[in-house]
Amino acid sequence: MRNPDFGNTVRLLRLRRKMTQPELADAVNVTKFWISKIEHGTVPHPNTVAALDSVLGAENNLINQARRARTELSAHLRHTAQLPSAPPLIYGRRHELGALHSELAPHHRTPIRVLTGPAGIGKTGLAVTWAHDATPSFPDGVLYSRLHGHTPGRAPATAHDVLADLISGLGVTDLPNSQDAREALLKTLLADKKVLLVLDDADSTKQVRPLLPGGHHCAVLITSRRRLSGLSIRSSARHLQLARLPISSAADMLAGLIGEDDAEQSPRLTRLAELLDCLPLAIHAAAELVHAHGYGLGELIAVMEGPTRLQALDLAADDDPEASLSAALNASAQHLSADATALLIELAHRGDQMVDALPVNERRELLREKFLVPGDGGVQLPSLVAEWAKTVLGPRPVHRPARETTATADRDAVETKPPRRIAVA
Ligand SMILES: Nc1ncnc2c1ncn2[C@@H]1O[C@H](COP(=O)(O)OP(=O)(O)OP(=O)(O)O)[C@@H](O)[C@H]1O
Ligand SMILES: [Mg+2]
Repeated sequence: MRNPDFGNTVRLLRLRRKMTQPELADAVNVTKFWISKIEHGTVPHPNTVAALDSVLGAENNLINQARRARTELSAHLRHTAQLPSAPPLIYGRRHELGALHSELAPHHRTPIRVLTGPAGIGKTGLAVTWAHDATPSFPDGVLYSRLHGHTPGRAPATAHDVLADLISGLGVTDLPNSQDAREALLKTLLADKKVLLVLDDADSTKQVRPLLPGGHHCAVLITSRRRLSGLSIRSSARHLQLARLPISSAADMLAGLIGEDDAEQSPRLTRLAELLDCLPLAIHAAAELVHAHGYGLGELIAVMEGPTRLQALDLAADDDPEASLSAALNASAQHLSADATALLIELAHRGDQMVDALPVNERRELLREKFLVPGDGGVQLPSLVAEWAKTVLGPRPVHRPARETTATADRDAVETKPPRRIAVA
């Protein structure tokens, strides 16, 4: 935290006492460099402020000045509202919103919630909707950061850079260079504050852990396509896995987006929602095909029943790779091993009736990366994912490497055409 008045007061008091910077540094047990930073406006930890106040005979003036500076920061925080806009209407997530409200209210400790689910299922939409609703519970502000875990065409953000963004979001411009110092500063700034931190599209536990506040009054909401188990094991985070939208909500969403209010169209909307796997991203893309490309409901169903539905949905995304389902799945596939990729292709060709029969260790990676999702009656391979795997990942491999020993897999490598690794869009 910076406050030039505080620095000037320290300097004046030191000169009045005829002390050099090294003498003052010795007296309060910090480095000379740190005294120089303080005199240039950095307000130190309250313990150092108290030591300075006593050594310089400031009669609590320095302590009060530092407290005022913190209050001013708090006032800035109240205006910190970095959330993007929420979807105008959120369909089918009443239960999940209720769970977030009861579990993320600021408490005696900082609750951490991780929303997980596959590409386009609605993690960001839900997180942002809830965060807007919950803003009054966080009087010191809401911080939002995109961590770019799966943004097509770009690498995940580093914790070092995100710390810089969060710290400047809190009104502090004097950034330390080292990551440890940034972590410590963020924790200091958030101690005793009621701030909601929304970390969207996290890539890994390693990326997120340095960003977590240390105090007791904040709340953290993280979204990720990955489970980030390390956060539950070492930071007591709780997970909420988003299931696909209920079919009736998905059909309502379609009706709302395409402006269809004729009750007689209800069966067709339900059919279309089913063909779109009830996936919000695909539903939005289908609605865009109606608005921008002039499809009627019947025509759209015909296209979605045919072999080109993925291409049609991607066409709707136009120039925005983040709106393309294929690009989103490509970004997820970067995390898959060759074995898991081959298994995914095979499942896609065979149909999902065999998914439940797979040994747990074979399907674990596909579950972790959210290509397989829990559904009614067991684990499922969404049909759009199956289509993408068949058309984008490559042809069906001859063998299933996941079932082979390494030696056998090596021997067969010449006969087994490896799945194509995909380029990020
Ligand atoms: N329940 C919902 N009701 C209405 N719109 C929704 C709902 N869920 C998501 N959306 C909208 O659907 C689109 C895709 O959802 P969203 O971006 O939240 O998915 P995501 O799970 O965050 O995907 P990704 O893994 O790529 O980050 C967005 O435009 C979002 O606003
Ligand atoms: Mg998202």
